[in-house]
Amino acid sequence: MPNPSLNHNMIRVTKDQFPADFVWGVATSAFQIEGASREDGKGPSIWDEFCQQPGVISDHSNGDVACDHYHRYESDLDLIEAMQVDAYRFSISWPRVRPTGAGAWNEAGLAFYDRLIDGMIKRGIKPYLTLNHWDLPAQLQHQGGWANRDTVFRFVEYAKGIHDRYGDRVVSIATHNEPWVVAVLGHETGIFAPGIKSRAIAAQTSHHLLLSHGMALRELRKDGATCELGIVLNLSPMHAATDSPEDQAKTRLEDGKLLRWYMDPMFKACYPADVWDDLGADSPLIEAGDLDIIATPMDFLGVNYYSRSVVSAKEQWDARKNGKAVSDMGWEIYPEGLTELLVRIHRDYPVPPLFVTENGGAFRDVLEDGKVHDAERTDYIVRHIEAVQAAMQQGVRMGGYMVWSFLDNFEWASGYEKRFGIVHVDYTTQTRTLKDSALWYQQFLQTTSNDRT
Ligand code: FCB
Repeated sequence: MPNPSLNHNMIRVTKDQFPADFVWGVATSAFQIEGASREDGKGPSIWDEFCQQPGVISDHSNGDVACDHYHRYESDLDLIEAMQVDAYRFSISWPRVRPTGAGAWNEAGLAFYDRLIDGMIKRGIKPYLTLNHWDLPAQLQHQGGWANRDTVFRFVEYAKGIHDRYGDRVVSIATHNEPWVVAVLGHETGIFAPGIKSRAIAAQTSHHLLLSHGMALRELRKDGATCELGIVLNLSPMHAATDSPEDQAKTRLEDGKLLRWYMDPMFKACYPADVWDDLGADSPLIEAGDLDIIATPMDFLGVNYYSRSVVSAKEQWDARKNGKAVSDMGWEIYPEGLTELLVRIHRDYPVPPLFVTENGGAFRDVLEDGKVHDAERTDYIVRHIEAVQAAMQQGVRMGGYMVWSFLDNFEWASGYEKRFGIVHVDYTTQTRTLKDSALWYQQFLQTTSNDRT
């Protein structure tokens, strides 16, 4: 059967145009795929509790079963292997391995990640581990969560425990996934767990996330870490909707809140003054020495990129209403923004090698006769890989690129309605089907330019 996603026009970029050690991967996170939410001693996370609140998840779903990956990890790893990727970025569920976030560790939970990591190694897949992809143990939230400085120390204990157990088998450990999302969507707008709506708590949360990152890095180094250590941020270029001074000023501040608030402390040991001033009385409490800890050098920086942001002082700018091509999330498809972003980070900060740790799109897939012809997703991925290549041609040091996501999964407040996978999941039967985008990726990873006709 011809595969419409594999038409010649789309295979513009080839793998051999990248360095031989460039890492190609797929990514997921624990809460979004594992399920088994109460099994084998796992404790509840803030997302388990958040999903119980009425109306917060658009399809009223939860992570109880998700993709049932906890039970199907062997066959899922077989699929990853079949795609020929080098690496799998996954996260550990903190409450699965330490149910209340403090005190006793859960051996059954730890053993699951032993099996998962060993399963990757057996198949020649490099494990890229993330410690915190948002599923904080609920018990820690009951004691104030990330707004409580004690949580920083609980996180460092968790990081050390995970590193002791798996550090010699994984290639990389990222401390946090997207601290901006945890702080702002979780604690300021409250559309994500734990659903708090306070700018002051959000600001304090962001500081504690950053502090825990730096402290964990220092401790893991003391423990002799040999794997690469870093963090993953969600970043976008900010463009003003118009040339008006109001739009320009707001754009600069929004750039500060999303990018400089995280990048400046980590790479310049200071918070950006404009954002600090804007926070006024809501600015976080910081202790002497915190900023030096946050600025602990790292081995890689992960960048998650989906779209640019367009900022208007008057209204919420809407890509669709402005005639732009959008994904099913309503996010503008804007690959050139990835080149712009990577070049800017490389120019403005003394960064280690950059990885695109997430990139992909939700589209309305149709499964028919065992096929999903998701040409839009393939095109999205191809164009973003080309955008990475363009950044490298401008001198940016890039270590790898990972597609979000390996599987369709629980897309947070959107539940199961938004499908980001390159592998389709039928949630009734848990059947997996490689979409055309996965077949394209597989072919891309096998193809060298010599094979092209
Ligand atoms: C990112 C998250 C990831 C997924 C994608 C679509 O913000 O890190 O878990 O939800 O967006």
